[in-house]
Amino acid sequence: MAKPVLLVPIFTLFIMVSLFSSGSSQTMPNEQKTWCIANPLASNSALAANIESICSQLNCSSINPRGSCFEPNTRIHHASFVMNLYYQANGRHLADCNFINSGLVSLNDPSKCVLNSSSSYHGFVVQETWCVAKPGTSDELLQLNINFACNLVDCSAATRSGGVCYSPSTLINHASYAMNLYYQITGRKKSNCNFRETGLIVSSDPSYGNCSYGISPMQ
Ligand SMILES: *[C@@H]1O[C@H](CO)[C@@H](O)[C@H](O)[C@H]1NC(C)=O
Ligand SMILES: *[C@@H]1O[C@H](CO)[C@@H](O)[C@H](O)[C@H]1NC(C)=O
Ligand SMILES: *[C@@H]1O[C@H](CO)[C@@H](O)[C@H](O)[C@H]1NC(C)=O
Repeated sequence: MAKPVLLVPIFTLFIMVSLFSSGSSQTMPNEQKTWCIANPLASNSALAANIESICSQLNCSSINPRGSCFEPNTRIHHASFVMNLYYQANGRHLADCNFINSGLVSLNDPSKCVLNSSSSYHGFVVQETWCVAKPGTSDELLQLNINFACNLVDCSAATRSGGVCYSPSTLINHASYAMNLYYQITGRKKSNCNFRETGLIVSSDPSYGNCSYGISPMQ
């Protein structure tokens, strides 16, 4: 006769969940953490400029050769680390992860090499999401993601020389394009941006110049 006893708390929980979701179906819970990462489409020079300007204000010793977040030693990983440092230090407003459109707000923790995020979204509404590769993912895993996704979706805009998303010609850019397209086409399920834990769901549109991260009518 345990069932009737359990009904009350379960029903109460149901009411609480209903109240919560009806008031904020489009808004993330206050406890939701966010991070800032570099856009895989950002140029090397834009990333270098971000590192220089942020590190003139904040302590970037972690990405120095003996720092705990030096590895993997890539520009996009170092830029992501310091862009997130800046974003966290300034209170996690959308504008603090813009960096002339070279930053993306991530809804997943990009790596151990970031400061803790403990604040809210400041009420911004998450309407659309995109999927990109984690800065710092190995070339082997990026290539596996490209092979997997491009077997199922048309990645030519990024993988064909001259395609609108080909530049910058880096594995992380091409993999991010492929992973996002797969994520969009399969209905933006969280699990479809996992890719052996190398994917990040972001709430900023990575589209840049003529390169669109939406689903084009042709596809
Ligand atoms: C920068 O941070 C490192 C480690 O987090 C610390 O050892 C160092 O003293 C800091 N430097 C300054 C100038 O605050
Ligand atoms: C992040 O949070 C965890 C648990 O709350 C804590 O143990 C860790 O020291 C924090 N790291 C930093 C860099 O603040
Ligand atoms: C975008 O496409 C248009 C038309 O094809 C072209 O004129 C323009 O130069 C392109 N812009 C960039 C940034 O590639």
